[in-house]
Amino acid sequence: MSTLQHASPGLQFEEPSIFERGAPGRNAASLSDLDVPAVDVAGKLGSLTRKRAAGLPEVAEPEVVRHFTRLSTWNFSIDTNFYPLGSCTMKHNPRVNEWAARLPGFASAHPYAPVRTIQGALELMARLRAILAEICGMDDVSLQPAAGAQGELTGLMMIRAYHAKQGRSPRKVLVPDTAHGTNPASCAVNGLTAVPLLRSGSGGVVEIGDVAKALEAHAGDVAAVMITNPNTLGLFERNLADVAKLVHDKGGLVYGDGANLNALMGRARPGDLGIDVMQFNLHKTFTTPHGGGGPGSGPVAFKSFLSPYQPTPVVVKRAGAHGESFYDLDDERPDTVGRVRSFVGNFGMMVRAYTYLREMGPEGLKSATDLAVLNANYLAAILKDVLPIAYDETCMHEAIFSDKDIKKATGVQTLDLAKRMIDYGFHPPTVYFPLVVPGALMIEPTETESKQTLDWFASALRAILEEAKSDPESVKRAPVTTRIARLDEARAARKPVLRWSPERSE
Ligand SMILES: Cc1ncc(COP(=O)(O)O)c(C=O)c1O
Repeated sequence: MSTLQHASPGLQFEEPSIFERGAPGRNAASLSDLDVPAVDVAGKLGSLTRKRAAGLPEVAEPEVVRHFTRLSTWNFSIDTNFYPLGSCTMKHNPRVNEWAARLPGFASAHPYAPVRTIQGALELMARLRAILAEICGMDDVSLQPAAGAQGELTGLMMIRAYHAKQGRSPRKVLVPDTAHGTNPASCAVNGLTAVPLLRSGSGGVVEIGDVAKALEAHAGDVAAVMITNPNTLGLFERNLADVAKLVHDKGGLVYGDGANLNALMGRARPGDLGIDVMQFNLHKTFTTPHGGGGPGSGPVAFKSFLSPYQPTPVVVKRAGAHGESFYDLDDERPDTVGRVRSFVGNFGMMVRAYTYLREMGPEGLKSATDLAVLNANYLAAILKDVLPIAYDETCMHEAIFSDKDIKKATGVQTLDLAKRMIDYGFHPPTVYFPLVVPGALMIEPTETESKQTLDWFASALRAILEEAKSDPESVKRAPVTTRIARLDEARAARKPVLRWSPERSE
């Protein structure tokens, strides 16, 4: 096989919305005759009765199957090919996770089921909490938050509640300028002010002197420092333990953004480095699906002194009347920050993550970390002669390149390079982030990619960089293999058209 692979347009169908298919009276169900007494629906619902039929699509089963199958072919996915979207940890989602999540006892458990009937589900949650706590060196975990960002918010709420309990209300959070945008956003949503920690040193990591200065400038008002480790430049925050000590000495706490745990699990524990509270992203590190905007899961781990503030309900073990023990849901916690998600969180994701953890075991997790770091360094090593690395040192699980010289020399923008990757059959890497790197291309290969895939990807990137010099227009026009070339992404995000209406389609 050639060292290059290309996407091809393939056979793709235009697909109208499902409302534009079918015909009045057609349907995909065959229901048996009513075998219970008929109910006078209008009489029961009174004024709530519909005046008109709901206007649902009227289609047969083959039309439904084809419609959704065709739509599914429009998407790039981790099951299609390499998806090196930096900071997102797009790794393979093992199918054994899906098997476990579909076991009827888990999949059919009703959120309002009496606790005595869902002991297995509650036990799985208790076990998952214990494993996650062990992995990150913390005392306990709340599984409730539904995303990394919501985990951040929850952790900061706990920090705020802790300070309030001591009769203090510091409002500042020190956040490095390499941080993911959700960090300052979580501060703002929580009524806290993010104070940027600028990287005065050239090393790309938080410097102790900068933290000391910020603590002095905002003396008495620093609730916490919020640090991602490894940071978004792919670098290990080597001063973290000293930073934590400094902040603790001034009465502040240390929040750890654990989204990049894929570079540490099994090798280093955030809790041992001084972190007080952190979130995991189960949909990244622990192979649960990202799922097109949900459902995610962002459990929060914490040291025991923060336990009173964790969200409720908490799964607890109690002694039964006959000497037996059983799992229960505890809502009686006076200092809790309250509920942050309906029911107990995204339970299906918990089953998947637990399955992955049991499948891998401690040694497997270590190997995953080692391979993720090796793969990122391999890509950095084989590409750095054509694409400069932002901070040229051994990286952790992602490699950050800068194409600013290419732009100067050829006029080809970072976005053009990214779009051209699609024509070579790859999902583009993250671009323009981290913000502190001009022309950033952030590549996160993860441990689930083979050397062969990485070599294909590197060959494609090399070929595109050649094209940028010899025929820049071909790169600026990309992608040419997709149904639609370039979207107005800002407009699509700001003014999405999400509803079909008969008037609009005319
Ligand atoms: C470093 C970092 N922090 C926080 C988040 C937010 O996580 P989520 O997308 O699950 O809300 C991400 C997401 O990729 C991230 O990369």
